[in-house]
Amino acid sequence: MPRSLSGRAMAALLLVGGFFSSSPPLHIDKTETKDQLYSLNHKMTKEELQQERSYSSNMTKEELEQELEEMFVGREPLRKTLIDIFIWAQDLRDRQEIDNSTIRRTLMHTVFIGNPGTGKTMVAKKLGDIFKSFGLAKSGHVVEALRGDLVGESSKQTAQNVERQMQKAKDGILFVDEAYRLSSSSDAVEEILLRLNATNDFILILAGYPDEMQKLFLMNNGLPRRFYQIIKLDDYTPHELTKICNRQAHERGYVLDQAAEQKFLELLDKNCSNPSLERQGPDGEKVYESIISQYNAGLCDHLLFAAEKEKALRMEQKRGSLSRIEWKREINELKEEDFTKGFEKWLSESSQLR
Ligand SMILES: *[C@@H]1O[C@H](CO)[C@@H](O)[C@H](O)[C@H]1NC(C)=O
Ligand SMILES: *[C@@H]1O[C@H](CO)[C@@H](O)[C@H](O)[C@H]1NC(C)=O
Ligand SMILES: *[C@@H]1O[C@H](CO)[C@@H](O)[C@H](O)[C@H]1NC(C)=O
Ligand SMILES: *[C@@H]1O[C@H](CO)[C@@H](O)[C@H](O)[C@H]1NC(C)=O
Repeated sequence: MPRSLSGRAMAALLLVGGFFSSSPPLHIDKTETKDQLYSLNHKMTKEELQQERSYSSNMTKEELEQELEEMFVGREPLRKTLIDIFIWAQDLRDRQEIDNSTIRRTLMHTVFIGNPGTGKTMVAKKLGDIFKSFGLAKSGHVVEALRGDLVGESSKQTAQNVERQMQKAKDGILFVDEAYRLSSSSDAVEEILLRLNATNDFILILAGYPDEMQKLFLMNNGLPRRFYQIIKLDDYTPHELTKICNRQAHERGYVLDQAAEQKFLELLDKNCSNPSLERQGPDGEKVYESIISQYNAGLCDHLLFAAEKEKALRMEQKRGSLSRIEWKREINELKEEDFTKGFEKWLSESSQLR
């Protein structure tokens, strides 16, 4: 893509040129010289800088901040990480405009480390938006791939599958969730590494559990060198989950009174935060984790659903004893007891699946 000098570079050249040229002899007014000196030394304001950019981003930092605040309730470290990436992308873009360098898309390959439900797909999409808005990825779309999309029955098929997924992700992001599962196919990992060497037209994100990602990276020492960014997606705190649950309940037309909200927080804090669930670690060993770690944002949906069912049973008992107005009000109220009973049932039912 041919690029002309950026407005900023051009302005500087014109100014300097005007300053030192001896002919034609200009009458330089003292006040003018002062103005020119002033403009050379003048620190650019945000707005001026924005105007100087020949490429203006589709999103501002303030817009992104606001969006992230809504998308990621609480979660300060994650939001800060994304804002930092925005600033870095802007800097890449600015430098590209000044010296016309090609963009090293390889710098954007990223590892996500986090448990299920911590918003990995959302973060991948946001990264796509950020890179797109600075023209660092033409389309910024996200192609999600699992092991089965990449690994074939033969090396040849694996190579073809990898190629196909990378083609789909061209100008955007290839997002491989549960990337640890690739560790059983050295073909796939080799193929990915080979392609990463050869192409610069897509961004790769590998995502997975902390312990498993560590193991994958230890298995192939070519991998860690390819990734310049690691984004850690922490588990939600009970407070953050309570806020999310409250919002989801409101979106569904429910009202939680103070006691219900308090109970929800208490259940998360006392009954969901301790490592009580068993899962298989990367070496087949037993790993214990909390209910929050296993579900994160998904937990809201499960617990709200459980409480809704309890509320239905509670209301059934009251059928015939409430006026129409009372009925209409109460049918949208989730109470403390709904959460207590709902949680107990959910816990014993869902344990059958583990
Ligand atoms: C910028 O680079 C491209 C290709 O790398 C080249 O075609 C173009 O002429 C360059 N533009 C300037 C202003 O140097
Ligand atoms: C950019 O602008 C388009 C159209 O105005 C809009 O649909 C899109 O959401 C904006 N943001 C990004 C990151 O592309
Ligand atoms: C990729 O390139 C690097 C050097 O640029 C080389 O050391 C490495 O072996 C290459 N990997 C593959 C899989 O070709
Ligand atoms: C929740 O935790 C409290 C306090 O540790 C305990 O008394 C209660 O039995 C737990 N409830 C369930 C359903 O596990």
